[in-house]
Amino acid sequence: MRVHVLGGGIVGLACADELVARGHDVVVVDRTPGSGASAVAAGMLSPAAETWHGEPELHRLGVASLRLWPEFAARLGVPLHERGTLLVGHDAGDGQEVERQAEVLDLLGVGVDLLGSRQVRELEPGLGRVARGFRVADSAVDPRAVVATLLARLGRHVAPAAPSAVADAVVVATGTRLPAPWTPLVRGVRGEVVRLRTDDPPGHVVRGWVAGEPVYLVPRAAGELVVGATLEEHDAPPVPTAGNVLRLLQAARTLLPALDRAEVLACEARDRPATRDHLPLVGPTYDPRTWLAAGHFRHGVLLAPLTARLLADAVEGAAPDPALDPRRLLDSPAPTGGTS
Ligand code: GLY
Repeated sequence: MRVHVLGGGIVGLACADELVARGHDVVVVDRTPGSGASAVAAGMLSPAAETWHGEPELHRLGVASLRLWPEFAARLGVPLHERGTLLVGHDAGDGQEVERQAEVLDLLGVGVDLLGSRQVRELEPGLGRVARGFRVADSAVDPRAVVATLLARLGRHVAPAAPSAVADAVVVATGTRLPAPWTPLVRGVRGEVVRLRTDDPPGHVVRGWVAGEPVYLVPRAAGELVVGATLEEHDAPPVPTAGNVLRLLQAARTLLPALDRAEVLACEARDRPATRDHLPLVGPTYDPRTWLAAGHFRHGVLLAPLTARLLADAVEGAAPDPALDPRRLLDSPAPTGGTS
């Protein structure tokens, strides 16, 4: 099939790579590929640390996609960080957040061993005061490296504008900005990150709460550490603000005191593409030529390999996963023809 993929973020590129591998004739249309949410995403591949109460479907999908990541990363030649994630709470109240997350996971059938302060700091000696924590075996990846590799693999398949030849299938993967009539399905939720370089990076991804503020610290190659992330719903442009950067850095330095001396590389912000039910849109629409791969909210990197498979299956005629079927959020088309 001739397929046009609109949008060259990690989701659109992963879909395109899968469709090319299946022998389709693919063009990714994006003037500035990789410059959206993928460019600032931290790259946690952590269903346990990133799904919350009331999100069992997201957890199921995250676990399924996490299983695909080793093969996906190997195919791209991109390394995975595989030392796992530590969920930690700084003070007693934050420790209760850790306990609540352990209960959420227990309800999802994931058992964790709650650890006290000393045990947590044995696992991650650079941590400051910690009341409670637990470790989960999962991964992280550098989304910029993934996007750069996908762009290099796709090469001539990526273009700034759609070719004149009509496509058999159009895959809309344009993040927060979906074209009409799908525009209202997705809204932007701003997230800010600070990228640091430190001589003392943590071995684990650290996900935690500090005086009620959620924060994560994701180590990358060469001492880089991504500190995220805020979560704000509004229409303002996605720029980093002094207040949010201050809160992130304060929380990060409380968790890892050595960060006091870290070099600040960048403060960045983007809108995440959120849907009404916080589940992505992957599959057909009521337009027989248009499929969506959008609305991944906080999970675009984790869900990229699963999305690529499910989307390619759907374009080839398979039934979509009902939890992701875009038609759940679309009005069914007005019946045509017939008599009333
Ligand atoms: N998944 C991390 C974030 O959205 O901040």
